[in-house]
Amino acid sequence: MSRHPHRLTQPAVDAPGSSHREASVERQEASAERGPSPSASDAKESLRLFYNSFTDYLSAVPEGHRSKFINFGYADDQSPGRGVTGASEALGHVNSARLVLETIGGCPLDGKDLLEVGCGRGGPIGVVLDRFPSVRRVVGLDLSSSAVEFCRSYLSRPNVHFEVGDAENLPFPDSSFDVVLNIESACHYPDVNAFYRSAFRVLRPAGHFLYSDSIDGDQVDHRLALLRGAGFTVESTRDVTANILRSSDEVAALRFSLMQAAGMPTIAGPRWDSSKSIEERMAHALCLPGTARYHRFARAEQVFVIWTLRKPE
Ligand SMILES: C[S@@+](CC[C@H](N)C(=O)[O-])C[C@H]1O[C@@H](n2cnc3c(N)ncnc32)[C@H](O)[C@@H]1O
Repeated sequence: MSRHPHRLTQPAVDAPGSSHREASVERQEASAERGPSPSASDAKESLRLFYNSFTDYLSAVPEGHRSKFINFGYADDQSPGRGVTGASEALGHVNSARLVLETIGGCPLDGKDLLEVGCGRGGPIGVVLDRFPSVRRVVGLDLSSSAVEFCRSYLSRPNVHFEVGDAENLPFPDSSFDVVLNIESACHYPDVNAFYRSAFRVLRPAGHFLYSDSIDGDQVDHRLALLRGAGFTVESTRDVTANILRSSDEVAALRFSLMQAAGMPTIAGPRWDSSKSIEERMAHALCLPGTARYHRFARAEQVFVIWTLRKPE
């Protein structure tokens, strides 16, 4: 890892989340260079290495420890929204905290046992603890051991724990949680239906699955069918693509320039060392205006949804 002489002065990093189609295009491009497509376990190993490298990068960048979120963020033309003031300012990132609150929606969390799958660097759980101080128990799970270690370094307390694990095979007994939260992470899972079934299994009857993610525009109905097939009732669906684009308009260029100033990360993993430069890959990850990802959202080829689902009583 190179040295990073400049200061990264605010939380500045956003998601490398790929839709399955984007991921598959990337795999096809990569396989044209390297041979056969990687298996699902190779894809997971690449992601694990990516998020480990990225977390290590943030640890090496001055002020990088303040980057607690890895999501596109949510913005609208009314400010502040959904009671975000306080939580967002305390945590240093308005749009990313807002996406968390929009995903939680009106679900009451006080007194509940909550699992966040794909907890990243802990920003969303920080929002939960800030907004719902009487939440009973919180568990954050992530594939990246570096991310989990980072979360443990500043967020652990008697009722808050972090574990390394795989969303597709959640390491918890049946009916252990009242709420499963999942923000901009499932786009990475090779078998998203295994995650849906696993989330259903670990939820108690009447438990909520609060889910936001980018999905290929023509896959929305199919995904809802998978969720119903797993046993969920769909309580509400929102398409918030316009809010994600507005957030990218507001913050992606700043985030990108802060990374350039600090020195781009060195990313490990086979999926990340193709012919594209790290700048191109990070611009894509950040959904920088002008990138193919941004245009896919703008043309609704990819949409960002917030869904509230429930396990029947
Ligand atoms: C874009 S980040 C979102 C992090 C966090 N939810 C947030 O909003 O800041 C996606 C996260 O999903 C995690 N992830 C990817 N695949 C996973 C899997 N199969 N199981 C658990 N976590 C996974 C990554 O390691 C990463 O931390």
